[in-house]
Amino acid sequence: MSEFSVDGFAAACKEAMASADGSHKAMKACLDEAMAENTPAEVIAALEAAVPAGADIGELIVHASPELTMLYGRIPPRFQSATHNHTVVACIAQLEGEEISHIYRRDGDGLRFIDSKTAVPGDVVALAADAIHGIENPNPTTGGALHVYGGDFGAIVDQRSLWSADRHEEIAFFFPAPLKESVKTMKRAATPPVSTLSPPPSRRPPR
Ligand SMILES: [Fe+2]
Repeated sequence: MSEFSVDGFAAACKEAMASADGSHKAMKACLDEAMAENTPAEVIAALEAAVPAGADIGELIVHASPELTMLYGRIPPRFQSATHNHTVVACIAQLEGEEISHIYRRDGDGLRFIDSKTAVPGDVVALAADAIHGIENPNPTTGGALHVYGGDFGAIVDQRSLWSADRHEEIAFFFPAPLKESVKTMKRAATPPVSTLSPPPSRRPPR
């Protein structure tokens, strides 16, 4: 793979995942190669050219097939998503700004906070199929990333879960619940309670 194209990447990634023992590692290897051979600006240009006309900021799907979904993640300033799962392997290739993944694990009927991983341009963060996370853009500028999922996101939505921002209760991933819980997550981060179930509030100064 040399010059990045959405169709070329999708074909190469699907082929690598089909022939690998671990589709998770194969997807990350494809993205690592793409990021090594292309600048973030080159990948962004290819994604912007592939975005459907009129697509909203949350709907920038540039490729969807039974094996793979590619999403141009344009993350608004200071946005924090609801905690959610994907049920398929996923990778985040950071292109612009930063994206923090707050990672959790199931613990009884709730969740336990495990770790936060910050991706900067050029980084690729891999998430296993059973991963649970919430994303955050800590900066005052819009972030950009290529989000890749090992399945058709449109077809698996009824298998996915959200966790409520206040009690970490598992709920179905149907709109508008993801938006409502994201808003609650951001309000909660503004006045974070002391809880072992919570990710650490961002301690970064505004910039
Ligand atoms: Fe996610």
